[in-house]
Amino acid sequence: MSDRYSGFYEQSINDPEIFWGMAAEKVQWVKKWDRVLDDSRKPFYRWFTGGELNTCYNALDYHVENGRGDQTAVIYDSPVTKTIRKISYRELLEKVSRFAGVLSGFGVTKGDTVIIYMPMIPEAVVAMLACARLGAVHSVVFGGFAPNELAIRIDDAKPKLIVSASCGIEGKKVIPYKPLLDEAIQIADHKPEKCIIFQRPQAESSLVPNRDFDWEKEIKKAHPADCVTVSATDPLYILYTSGTTGKPKGVMRDNGGYAVALKWSMKYLYDIKPGEVYWAASDVGWVVGHSYIVYAPLLTGCTTVLYEGKPVGTPDPGAFWRVISEHGVSVLFTAPTAFRAIKKEDFEGVYLKKYNIKSLKYLFLAGERLDPDTYDWASSLLGIPVIDHWWQTETGWGIAGNCMGLEPFPVKAGSPTKAIPGYNVQIVDAEGNELPRGQEGYVVIKLPLPPGCLPTLWNDDKRFLEYVTEIPGFYVTGDGGYIDEDDYLFIMGRVDDVINVAGHRLSTGAMEEIIARHRDVAECAVLGANDQLKGQVPVGFAVLKAGVNRDQDKMAEELVQMVRSDLGAIACFRKCAFVDALPKTRSGKILRGTMRKIVDGENYSIPSTIEDASVLDDITRAAEEMGCGE
Ligand code: COA
Ligand code: AMP
Repeated sequence: MSDRYSGFYEQSINDPEIFWGMAAEKVQWVKKWDRVLDDSRKPFYRWFTGGELNTCYNALDYHVENGRGDQTAVIYDSPVTKTIRKISYRELLEKVSRFAGVLSGFGVTKGDTVIIYMPMIPEAVVAMLACARLGAVHSVVFGGFAPNELAIRIDDAKPKLIVSASCGIEGKKVIPYKPLLDEAIQIADHKPEKCIIFQRPQAESSLVPNRDFDWEKEIKKAHPADCVTVSATDPLYILYTSGTTGKPKGVMRDNGGYAVALKWSMKYLYDIKPGEVYWAASDVGWVVGHSYIVYAPLLTGCTTVLYEGKPVGTPDPGAFWRVISEHGVSVLFTAPTAFRAIKKEDFEGVYLKKYNIKSLKYLFLAGERLDPDTYDWASSLLGIPVIDHWWQTETGWGIAGNCMGLEPFPVKAGSPTKAIPGYNVQIVDAEGNELPRGQEGYVVIKLPLPPGCLPTLWNDDKRFLEYVTEIPGFYVTGDGGYIDEDDYLFIMGRVDDVINVAGHRLSTGAMEEIIARHRDVAECAVLGANDQLKGQVPVGFAVLKAGVNRDQDKMAEELVQMVRSDLGAIACFRKCAFVDALPKTRSGKILRGTMRKIVDGENYSIPSTIEDASVLDDITRAAEEMGCGE
């Protein structure tokens, strides 16, 4: 056991107020907190109540005031537009203050919500920080979501204003965003007062008079706005994530606890210092983008890389190595799927030999299980520590992982090693009884969660309670796994209907709701099937209404298209088969566990509760036809 780690870990669990109170000294406060941990409304815990600060001040102004003005804050590296742009802390502060002035000119004030629907361009970062500057609450919606999904988020967040761009660029494709935005506003019940559109030359868009305003024109007219002081417990952002139903969950993040946790994580988990270059190859639309493209690197005074490209195809599998060598990246954080994509195209690492990536100290991977094959390949290719760490949108930062800034543990492939200080992770059965070492069960975290994690869901305390009341005293992560004899944690996958496609979290329930809307479908089930590149891909099984006699290929095409246009291309829903019936218990519950095993080509035993076991043969046939389990 690493002594340094155990000292930190034990204090974080036994004396969280001392532990996090010390960590909070690294953040600049307008007013210090009254209580580090406020447990007066259990199970709603709050951190740093009474404290006041501004997150944008901590991310920008503070660094400019303390000698980092000329240091590069953001490197925008966009192979898809052949652009590399460096923005210093001083320039970023100027841009953010001006854009905050634009927002404030449109009436945005503290507590208002603003939706940001943008691709990976610096203006997305500027918009996020400008909201933080004003104490407004941003909600970034990933560009790959279809208008219907955006509309759902508009209706829930009720934004005063939406910030968007005319288009995104995905590899070689230009995707006009503005028509998607217009459609979403049309579908939504809530209508934002104004939209600010950043025009990109690849596809300029027309603007709706009196509703849409041009980013550049407004910036020119605006006066810079100052930071507005907010409470530590005030919301910084809402980030929607997939639950088990079609309605996404609005994870709320506060200001104070988040800043404290992120700064702590940069030093002790990622072992990165102010001035170094940190690159999270993700998207600002995901939690990794919020925490580790934008907030954590800037709060720490690092240089962050904003990469508008893919691991392969922009232009080749050497893309990541080029960025690392060109910008002197110290830490790279991405999803295992990105490395599987590189491995598939350049197993021998031929492209790596073209670049000098000596600056790279660590590769951190998260977002999905890091399979031992990918771990072994990446470790031997790079010859540096490869660190698997496990976390969720809800937590905002790592729950388990090898802390490089403490004393690291030897790695066991397939495990993110141990709980990170602050998280008391346990394995329990459905009744909440702790399970012995080695036995698989529900992975839960004893309350309180550390700073940075969700204090609640946006306007939905009731739904938040589902996380913390199913097993009283614990936060239920939704993941299954076990802890071995050496206290290493193994995360084996979700125990609910959430799947993970190329590091993107998706709800099979949401896809089922879409498919069930087809007039000829009686019922359906969507499951995640193992996929060598993307980890999982969704596959559908649909039962047609009695008397419907349709061409099955055509019908499957229609369902695929419905999911694509209602949820988005990132769902990667491409396969659907037709069966006579779904396997069910005698009480009518779909036997999803058994279906999952069939889809993954695993052995299964016939459940004693099954109503008609012969249905399983039909499911097996359909799964084989779709190429599942190969
Ligand atoms: N806007 C619009 N469409 C988008 C999009 C965006 N921001 N991101 C993805 N899409 C579209 C893609 O164009 C693709 O559309 P298509 O079906 O018309 O081809 C579809 O969504 C699926 O995209 P993706 O899953 O990214 O597949 P891909 O084949 O284009 O790329 C990988 C595969 C592995 C290279 C890619 O998924 C990747 O780089 N993953 C990294 C993981 C990551 O960043 N995870 C975030 C959490 S850390
Ligand atoms: P998201 O909220 O999109 O970050 O997805 C969170 C989910 O991704 C978790 O609940 C896990 O199922 C999965 N996940 C994330 N990181 C890991 C990891 N390192 N190992 C295994 N699963 C992971």
